[in-house]
Parts: sequence; structure tokens; C-alpha cells
Amino acid sequence: MKTQIISPLRIVLVTSALAAASLTFISAGGAGSHAARGDKPDKELTSNIVQGKTMPEGTATPSPSPFPRPLVFPPVNFNANISIGIDEACVQILDGPCTNMWTYGGSYPGVTIRRPTGQTTHVTFTNNLDTAAGEMTVHNHGNHSTAVNDGQPDSFLIPTGGSRTYTYDGLEEGANQRGKMQFYHDHRMDVTGRNIWMGLTGMYIVDDPADPPTLPSGAFDLPLTIADRQFDVNNQIPYVFNPDGVTGDKILVNGVYQPYFEAGDRKYRLRILNASNARTYYLTLSSGDSFIQIGTESGLLPAPVVRAGMRIGAAERLDVVVDFAGKLGQSVYLTDVLTGAPLLEFRVNQHMVDDSSVPATLRPLPDIGEPTVTRNWSFDKTAGHWTINGLRFDPNRIDARPVLGTTEKWIFTNPTAKAHTVHIHDVAQQCISRDGAACYPYETMKETWYLDPGETLEIKLKFTDHTGVYMLHCHIVEHEDDGMMTQFEVVRPAPSPRPRPTPRSRPTP
Ligand code: C2O
Ligand code: CU
Repeated sequence: MKTQIISPLRIVLVTSALAAASLTFISAGGAGSHAARGDKPDKELTSNIVQGKTMPEGTATPSPSPFPRPLVFPPVNFNANISIGIDEACVQILDGPCTNMWTYGGSYPGVTIRRPTGQTTHVTFTNNLDTAAGEMTVHNHGNHSTAVNDGQPDSFLIPTGGSRTYTYDGLEEGANQRGKMQFYHDHRMDVTGRNIWMGLTGMYIVDDPADPPTLPSGAFDLPLTIADRQFDVNNQIPYVFNPDGVTGDKILVNGVYQPYFEAGDRKYRLRILNASNARTYYLTLSSGDSFIQIGTESGLLPAPVVRAGMRIGAAERLDVVVDFAGKLGQSVYLTDVLTGAPLLEFRVNQHMVDDSSVPATLRPLPDIGEPTVTRNWSFDKTAGHWTINGLRFDPNRIDARPVLGTTEKWIFTNPTAKAHTVHIHDVAQQCISRDGAACYPYETMKETWYLDPGETLEIKLKFTDHTGVYMLHCHIVEHEDDGMMTQFEVVRPAPSPRPRPTPRSRPTP
């Protein structure tokens, strides 16, 4: 590696509006902490730090650091029956020695599964790892799976040398599930952090013909998995558990460090997944242009939302459209404001006719009714461990038994000094309020929620189709492994007392 310009924390790289083709480093003086507080300071961030908005058309964006490697995409499997080996593989990431990883199918990220909605999919995983890795379990994050197919942390495991087939029916309440980007990853109790860090993550895209056909598609629909890793001098990534979260100083996109992508001067759809163990990003475009957010974890928004910067916590997804029109001959960087690191260079070097468009309305939310039960979940710390309502995970304890077919209100609070990303399995959730105020327009329906210190979030969810045990946890996976996880069990409604036949009047003798 040559010059490394991942700048010190809180130095933000911007293009200067005054001096074209010159680089300006602005000390963001606390921008990191501002941004870390959430999306509320969007405006502050954009006006004070990322000044690209005022950049004149045609200003060349100089390369802030060498981006020598092409962006790559993992192999895609479109089949109804898929077999994936959980294999050790040496993956070429940096110059020099390859990196030993645990993979789904030999690549990092693992093979992308891409399926039409409403179709049944069987995915068979075979655990080819060394015995020391132990049993595995695979969770299809965001999917409305039956409990036995949900990748339980401590049951239905895949032993060393063994296989397990997970079946997904692609349905939700009798209809096709919504199009969206899910992802699959290991979920083994106590070692999820290690297993994900070692590479056990892959994308799972559900294509839905009910979504607007005019959105950028095909070669203009780019799934991007962002994840950080810490490499040692031999380019290896030994995992050292830290209950506060494991992070690294190199941020990879689709497993590539500082990649470039040769783009046309047109719109692209970016499906962004934060597959990091713990790190939060705040994404901007170096051109100062905005993203048009069209979707979340749970599919398309009711209407697109224009955003200059976007926070993304562990396991969240952002489905956005970016437009490189007028940028021919320039480079535009997808940048993380919190570290100041440019993550991906778009080299806009081809002129293209753009026939795509973003409709003014996308997809209405499903009507899930009004909640009849309220539950409170405190994401807290107790006796030195991350807990929920004061308790660490116990596979033998169930903390809630919602009834199939009902809608509940769940209230999340965070009395700790750290942010958490709260993820609920089984069904998507709709936002009711954030911190007593209206929800962000880009957070109408999700399944992974950023919860800042002191924040309160109210959501509602309807338990459809499946009974059984599901997880609720923080997706900072070291918090999860340390204990910030619990389970709920969806149960059948109690049988209503059977109407008794009217007793016959006895004839009096
Ligand atoms: Cu992505 Cu329970 O996890
Ligand atoms: Cu957490």
C-alpha cells in the first residue's frame, strides 16, 4: 500500500468551492459527535461541513487517495434450490497476503441470493469449517421466516460437517412479501460477533414486480455492503471480543478496500447495507449532491425523501438513488463523515442516456391496525453487561408472548451512554413516534432502529402467519453476544370457551 490518507477522526474532506481542483481539509470540530447524535443535525452537517452544495458545476473533484481496485460484486444465485458451503477461504483484499476468512460460498461477502417475491426458496448450508468454529446457524435478516427457519441462536444448529436446509416461502399475510434487500448472517449464541467478523454475511435481494419499474435496474442497481475490519501485519483479521463493539480502521465496500466503480452520467440505485459488527457511518457524496432515499430494510417508502447525509447503524439498510448527470469526467466519492474516509469512488466516465426515473409516490404502508397491547423494552446495562430490561440473554427465558394476528405497540428506551441498533425478527415494524415527535419520513417501516442515548422510540407491529420463538436484540453484535438479546414467542389465541349445548330439560318423573 502506498499513501494512506484515511485522515484522523473528525477531519472531513471536502472539495473547495473557491479553489477548483484543490483540496481543503476542514477540522470538523465535534462534527463526529454531532452526527453521532443522529439524523437530527442533518442540516448542521451539510451547511457547516459538507460545503459541496455550493460547488460550481464542472469543478473537478481531485482524488483524495488512490482508489486502485475495481468494485466487485459477489456471485449471484437466482435459483429456487441453493446450496452454500460455509467454507474457509483466503480472500484477496489488500496487497500482499490474502486474508483467511469464513465465507458463504468462498467469497466475502458471500454469494448474493436474488429471488422473485412469492416463490419458495430452499437454501442448504453445509458447515465445512474446522471443529473449533463450532455449530453454525443462519438468520435471513428481514425475512418473515417460520421460527424453525429463522436461524435460532441455540437450536436447529448446523454441526461441523453437517447441513441444514432453510425454507422461505416469500409470502406475508397471504400476499407476496415486499421487494427489499435482506441479508443473511450467522447468529450463533455468544459468538455471532466472531462469526460475522470472520466473514459470514451475504446479501439476499427480493425482487418484486409490484415495485415501480422505472427505478434504475440491472447494471444500474448496485448492492453495496459496507463493513470495517482491522488487519494485522500479515493481512489477517484476528477477532478480539470487546463488549463495546469491535471495529477496524479499514472500511470495505463489497469486501474491497478503496474501490472505484466506472459509472455513466445517469442515475444509479444503491442498496446500502451496513454489515459492520458495530460501526455507524454518516454517508455523504463528495459532490455535495443529495441522495434520494427510496427504501429501508422493509422495502420502498411511501414517497422518496431527499437527504444530504444519511446515518446508517449496524444492520440498517438504505435504498437510495444517486444521479451523476452533469458529472462526466469527474469522480464522486461516497464518503463517511464520521471518519472522514472516502469509501468508494464513482469514476463518471461514460455518457449514457438515462431512461430511469423516481416516481413521486412509491408504495403505501400496509395497514396493520391499532395496537391493543403495549410493551416496554429498555436497552440497558446491568452489572457490567449489556441487557434488555435488566436481563442478559437466556435461551430458556421468553420475555413476551404476543398473540398471533394482533398488533402491539413496543416502546424502546436507551438509558445507556451508547447508541444501539434494535432489531426485531419475524415482522417489519412501523414507526409511531421518535422521542415524542414525528418519525423521520425515511423511517416509516423498518426492522432495525437506531436508538441514541436517551431516546425513546415507539413502534407498532402485527404478528402474522407464524407462531414460535423469535429474537429481539441490539445489532451491535458484541452487545448482542454480551447479553443484549431476548426472545418473544408468538402464540395462538387462547381458545374461546366452547359454547355448551343448552341442557335439555329433564322430564320430571
Ligand atoms: Cu441480523 Cu437477529 O439479526
Ligand atoms: Cu447495543
